[in-house]
Amino acid sequence: MKLNITVLPGDGIGPEVTREAVRVLRAVAEVYGHDFSFEEHLIGGAAIAETGSPLPPSTLDACLASDAVLLGAVGAPQFDGLAGEKRPEAGLLGLRSACGAFANLRPIVCYDATADSSPLKAEVVKGADVLIVRELLGGLYFGEPRAIQGEGATREAFNTMRYNEAEVERVARVAFEAAAARGGKLTSVDKANVLETSRLWREVVNRVAREYPQVRVEHMYVDACAMHLMLNPRRFEVILTENLFGDILSDEAAVLTGSLGMLASASVGGGTDVYEPVHGSAPDIAGAGLANPLGAIASAALLLRYSAKLEQEAADVEASIRAVLERGYRTADIQGRTGKYIVGTEEMGTLVAEALAELADMRHAYHAV
Ligand code: NAD
Ligand code: IPM
Ligand code: MN
Repeated sequence: MKLNITVLPGDGIGPEVTREAVRVLRAVAEVYGHDFSFEEHLIGGAAIAETGSPLPPSTLDACLASDAVLLGAVGAPQFDGLAGEKRPEAGLLGLRSACGAFANLRPIVCYDATADSSPLKAEVVKGADVLIVRELLGGLYFGEPRAIQGEGATREAFNTMRYNEAEVERVARVAFEAAAARGGKLTSVDKANVLETSRLWREVVNRVAREYPQVRVEHMYVDACAMHLMLNPRRFEVILTENLFGDILSDEAAVLTGSLGMLASASVGGGTDVYEPVHGSAPDIAGAGLANPLGAIASAALLLRYSAKLEQEAADVEASIRAVLERGYRTADIQGRTGKYIVGTEEMGTLVAEALAELADMRHAYHAV
């Protein structure tokens, strides 16, 4: 199969982790006989430094013309003082919006091998497997009006949280489909005891629920959800929530897996889908070769699954990640407690690519018998 992938390494550890994700995708292409092409473009701080814009038109055009986008991370401390729309983060938000990516799928997978990498007890996190479906183009991130205005003591700032029914309905459908495919439980997370947006959210979710009688639906307040996620993560299967709640809950959920560096995501729903690890540019470790590339590599697996419909290849990348962890290899952020081989970003990527080739060889040998 032929696939044109736009790669946006971005800032900080972004280039380090995307390099490893591309390494694994190249291994997939080689092992399974696919033709993947990769074209790099600028986004975020790297794009501001070069062109003055966090999302240059040439980058956006390339993304919209490709089969899928693989993104590293954006954000750099030297641009933190810029106005909102000029910041590196605005490039990412503009990309999601231009791609129409309204649903952000964030799988939280707790591998047995890394259960002791979490600060939580192993018996709490073992076997936890939660899909967070985060609404990605609405709420406070995009709501108008928004401004900082005025002078002196009455200078004020405001953002607007707003959702219309259609926006809730389309992301709810994505979550219900996922819940139906996984066996049937959906937790819709809101703040309906306080917010009108949440009351509308709940109404629409209940309406969509009637089309999915096989899915059990529960509603939970976001503050309680933050607690239950740490207390008993296995009680969740699919969590559906609005943009900001999903941003916060997914970073929290990363603690279950040991590190933010483990989490992958797929931003889908429009013309071009964007695959991005959940973490940011991690300025504190950028350039040191320490970053965990597994979130980026797992994002590449999601690209294979959703954009390329290559389920076997996607599952093999995930199995390769699992195999490397089971053999005891760890980046520093998931060091855990005992007897592990600590490796850097590049070595971890290489190990996954090698495990993938081994897996394919084994399957080949099995079929040859
Ligand atoms: P961050 O995710 O960059 O880092 C938070 C902590 O997690 C840091 O201690 C970091 O070292 C660690 N970490 C993150 N990814 C890691 C990895 N792959 N391996 C090992 N450790 C990892 O969040 P932050 O420090 O709050 O933000 C830094 C910048 O990144 C900001 O400019 C922010 O806006 C941006 N950001 C971008 C994205 C994105 O591009 N999708 C996501 C989040 C934050
Ligand atoms: C994420 C990030 C982004 C978000 C920022 C960098 C705009 O935190 O992808 O989780 O808030 O969506
Ligand atoms: Mn975030």
